[in-house]
Amino acid sequence: MRKKLVVGNWKMNGGQSQNAALIDGVRGSVPEGVDVVVCPPYPYLAQVKTLVAGAGVGLGAQDLSPRKGGAFTGDVAASMLLDVGCEWVLVGHSERRTLHGEDNRLVAEKVAAALDAGLTPILCVGETLDERDGGRAEAVVSAQVAAVVDVLGLVAMAKVVVAYEPVWAIGTGRTATPEQAEVMHACIREGLRVAGVAADGVRILYGGSVTAANAASLFAMPDIDGALVGGASLVADGFSSICAAAAAS
Ligand code: PGA
Repeated sequence: MRKKLVVGNWKMNGGQSQNAALIDGVRGSVPEGVDVVVCPPYPYLAQVKTLVAGAGVGLGAQDLSPRKGGAFTGDVAASMLLDVGCEWVLVGHSERRTLHGEDNRLVAEKVAAALDAGLTPILCVGETLDERDGGRAEAVVSAQVAAVVDVLGLVAMAKVVVAYEPVWAIGTGRTATPEQAEVMHACIREGLRVAGVAADGVRILYGGSVTAANAASLFAMPDIDGALVGGASLVADGFSSICAAAAAS
């Protein structure tokens, strides 16, 4: 049985006092039996590490460099994330792929860098609306996952968390139906299994307009092991309710 995982992706939101209020609101309502993680912007990682102490909430970053260190202005190495208390890192979010031109190869290198440093990477994959309408959703997502398997190998891939986030569902209020999401999650797991990865242990999260209202029906699906939550993770009550739904599933 895979333990459910709920990850809050704060994106480029927050500030010192807002962060404190948000974690205060979540403290005390993190259920047993679920892993809960928040991913603030880089400047707040150290602050949030202090805030989450004793709250049962883990810390993740939203991106990392594939390189170990040196003359790379603006970049942040995996070892630095570890140094400020991160255990998790998002990699290949669609906003990084689209707005920063990250391709499958770079994403795979970042996943490898995270694992090398001892972080757990959360590999984000997902198709655009055009790709879905064109009947290519499964092929696109499978290729995104396969590119990482190729670079990492089978053993390392089993340590990665995958987050399926259809691009058309992110921040749009238009979530995939539980059935649509389950089809893709099962496809991802089957692809991993066929490649030789120990797929039954890999957690596959759904992301894209997850809210307290739709979380339970998503978590009821056999291959949905949690959620990557954007907008709804910025409101303590909503985020806590999503975590509670994960615990109840
Ligand atoms: P959303 O974002 O929940 O606001 O749709 C999810 C994500 O981009 O990780």
